[in-house]
Formats: sequence, structure tokens, C-alpha cells
Amino acid sequence: MAPYSEGQILHHATLHQLQVFEVAARHRSFTRAAEELFLTQPTVSMQIKQLSKAVGLPLFEQVGKRLFLTDAGEDLYATCNRIFEELAEFEMKVADMKGMKQGRLKLGVVTTANYVIPRLLGPFCHRYPGIQVSLNVTNHDRLVDRIQENRDDLYIMSHIPPQLELQSYHFIENPLVVLAHRDHPLVQEKNISLERLAKESFIMREAGSYTRRSVQKLFDQHGLTINIKMEFDSNEAIKQAIAGGMGISVLSLHTLALEGASGQLAILDVEHFPITNQWYICHIAGKQISVIAQTFLQFLQTEGRKIAQQTLAATRGEEVVTANAS
Ligand code: PGA
Repeated sequence: MAPYSEGQILHHATLHQLQVFEVAARHRSFTRAAEELFLTQPTVSMQIKQLSKAVGLPLFEQVGKRLFLTDAGEDLYATCNRIFEELAEFEMKVADMKGMKQGRLKLGVVTTANYVIPRLLGPFCHRYPGIQVSLNVTNHDRLVDRIQENRDDLYIMSHIPPQLELQSYHFIENPLVVLAHRDHPLVQEKNISLERLAKESFIMREAGSYTRRSVQKLFDQHGLTINIKMEFDSNEAIKQAIAGGMGISVLSLHTLALEGASGQLAILDVEHFPITNQWYICHIAGKQISVIAQTFLQFLQTEGRKIAQQTLAATRGEEVVTANAS
């Protein structure tokens, strides 16, 4: 191949090729890049081949089944990240200059907030039809990774890790409750002790979930071991498993937002519960957030919070069969 030359790259590489390369390099996989970009795998390969030709050096190397970046690939990946960050900032400035509420809003939220944020996007997007939202839902630890990679405009999570420099705003409470099947014998009991609860089979969230960490912390503080029977990385799967009589769990009360009066789950009256976590809206401190992100932040702190509070009140009051309801 011809030697690495900047002029050559500028003449022959396209922005699209760089975008494809960035995604492939991030995943270290052409297949996953194709999935994310809604392209076929041969198209991804072809774009990267052409880019590699423009650079004059291979960008990836295959060792066994694994794909690695070459030194030139690593350099180009870092360059791409800088280019796309700059372009996004430029796009934001242009939108701000035009005073337009249009463009992209990238949100990263923890799994449990998935029950709250999408329904708030309805009224928000209705008011600002020019805003295109991308919502990434993942657990606490993965969200911390996203923050470190500066992937989104705003984040919603319970626990703000001290090592991250974030500007945060309180959003709404996130109570964690003990859920059991409505026919579970403990539903009839009041003020159940943690010791008694520890005898039950638990369906737990996966490692990396802050819901799980909160429960673990409470049991640790009381010198008790959780009897973990199963682990799922989905709140919805856990609810189904409880409904199937496979055990009990601790989940955010928000996960019951859509349960009707016919819901099969009941909240147990256990000492030290609910665990009173709070949700915060945050962004990287010192990052100039776009007008769109500021608009959404403001919306969340006013109308958004009101809607979420009303939903939570309805979940507490009428929509769920609760063991401690009189
Ligand atoms: P997670 O969410 O259990 O999905 O990590 C916890 C949180 O509310 O931050």
C-alpha cells in the first residue's frame, strides 16, 4: 500500500466512511456496526476497505475470530472521535444561532427510568416536533461508561459516582419496594423483618445494576445474605418471573406504572422498605449543553416532574394491590 498521507486521506475518504469506521472500531465488529447503522455487513466491509485504501495502511487486523485495530486504526479512531465531537458542537451552535428548537437530543437513562422517560417524551416531542430523540437505556455501570465516553447530552440515574464531575439536578424519588405474587403468604403480613425476607428466593437484577447494589447494601448492613435464585437484566422479565411464582424481588415502584388493578404483583410491607433512592438528571460539568438539552432539562424539572409524580401517586394509591393498603 502507498504510504500514509494526509492529503490523500482528505481527497479520498468520505465522512460516511469515517462514520462507518468509528462504529466498527467502537464495537470491534463489522457485524455489530452493520446492525447499528442499518447497513449490510458487506457494505461495512467495503466502506472500510476503501477508507483503508485512502489511508494507505490497514486499519483492522483479524487474529483468530477477534478483530483488533492496528496502530493507524487506533489513531484514526481517536481522530474520528474528535471530528464528530467538533461537528456535533458546530451543529449545536448553528441551531442555537438560528434560535431553532430542532436537532438531536441524546438521552442515557438507567433501566428503571425506562418506565418514566418515554412517556414524558410524548408531550415534549409534540411541542417540539423538530427534535429527534435517541434514548439509550442501560444499567448503572454501563451508563457510567457512556458518561465517560461523552455519548449523550443528558443522563438520568440514582447514584452519582463521586469520580465523575457531573452537574446534577434532582428529578423525582425512586422508591425501591419488595414485590411478590399477590397470592404469596407474606402479602397478609405486616412489618415483615429482613431476617424473614432473607429466607425467600430472590430474583435479582444483574451485577452492574444500582437497584441490585442498593438491596445488597441493606442486607450487608444487617449482616444478612440474600438467597439469590435467579438473575435477570430486565425489570420486566423479573416481574414476569414473580407473576410465575418463581420468587420475590426488589424493584423500583416506577416499574409498576402500567399495572392495572388486575395486576398480579403485590408490594410487601417489609421493615426498612421502601429504600428511598432519588433520581437525578445530569450532564458533564463544564459541558455546554445545547438549547435542545436545556429545553428538555427545563421540561423535566417542571411538567415532566409533575407527570411523573402523578403517575407515581396513581401507582401507589389505586393501581396496585398493596399489602399495607387499609
Ligand atoms: P439500574 O438503575 O438498576 O437499572 O442500574 C438504578 C438507578 O436507578 O440508577
